[in-house]
Amino acid sequence: MSSADSYKVSSLKDKVTLITGASSGIGAGTALLFAKLGAQLALNGRDLDNLTKIAKECEECGSSKPLLVPGDLTNEDTVRKTVEQTISHFGRLDVLINSAGILAMGTIETADLAQYDKVMNVNVRSVFHLTQLCVPHLIKTKGSIVNVSSVNGQRSFPGVLPYCMSKSAIDQFTRCVALELACKQVRVNSVCPGVIVTEVHKRAGLDEEQYKQFLEKCKVTHALGRPGEVDEVAHSIAFLASDAATFITGVNLPVDGGRHAMCPRISLSYPNQTQTTSGEPAGPISDQKLRAALAAGPSGGSARLEEAPMCHRLHFPQREA
Ligand SMILES: NC(=O)c1ccc[n+]([C@@H]2O[C@H](COP(=O)([O-])OP(=O)(O)OC[C@H]3O[C@@H](n4cnc5c(N)ncnc54)[C@H](OP(=O)(O)O)[C@@H]3O)[C@@H](O)[C@H]2O)c1
Repeated sequence: MSSADSYKVSSLKDKVTLITGASSGIGAGTALLFAKLGAQLALNGRDLDNLTKIAKECEECGSSKPLLVPGDLTNEDTVRKTVEQTISHFGRLDVLINSAGILAMGTIETADLAQYDKVMNVNVRSVFHLTQLCVPHLIKTKGSIVNVSSVNGQRSFPGVLPYCMSKSAIDQFTRCVALELACKQVRVNSVCPGVIVTEVHKRAGLDEEQYKQFLEKCKVTHALGRPGEVDEVAHSIAFLASDAATFITGVNLPVDGGRHAMCPRISLSYPNQTQTTSGEPAGPISDQKLRAALAAGPSGGSARLEEAPMCHRLHFPQREA
């Protein structure tokens, strides 16, 4: 491989790139990385102050002045104007990064239809609409699309039902559109992050203390033993968008410290003796109790399974403090 081939991600230089969610988190980090790589940027977000701040940082990284196309992407006029202004300013579009998204806490028992509609409108409907309007321009440039999905699209988690559904939809959207546009040489991929340190979880309702605990728990919920950083996702997005990935389309790429590959296992001993009060000795639990816990399922009956380092530990509530 020649040295030039080693740096194919540098093909993003001068590529006209529209990034949504660019006012915060993963989208903002991606804007900064693309700026460093010399891309020409059109940035969308709702918070104009934040968007302006990120645009200034992009310029400080050496990029030409980004075009700001602010607004709420659930508004159809905003979506149309975003594409029209990008094309009229730059004359073409090479890359679309769909990063805008929201998280909401809700189960089948607690999420109302308003929450369902809100999450689906932002995370799926607006992505469908914006992509649809960008596609004719991306066909002309044989460009590429990277969607920001989530490990929640590939794996199932209780408590964030509409969000998980929305990200599964994005994974399927990515694969289907990839097949539809492959004959036109437009590549379509997604990144599927695990927990990444951004504003999204606090915006979904976690207070500072809960967020701290949530990040602490990432040491056991992610195989690499930590949450991820925005920059780590941004580099994966740049890879997929660039000529470094010319033979990759229809991929939902986990960027999650191995979380997608983890599988619950049963620990056959009490993990923490301080959690039992009945005076029973630590050590292997009986097959009978194991079977009872398994039969009861993760949340049912008198025993429950709780996520723990690389396994699921058995807890018997009647014996806990
Ligand atoms: N952080 C994680 O752990 C994680 C994990 C997996 C996947 N993701 C995905 O990564 C993407 C980016 O999230 P993040 O973590 O970077 O969160 P974030 O810091 O909260 O950023 C979310 C971005 O989306 C924009 N946005 C939200 N609703 C919008 C709307 N209706 N119209 C236009 N823009 C809108 C926000 O704009 P304003 O701030 O200007 O309102 C902001 O720029 C999301 O799709 C999220 O689902 C995140």
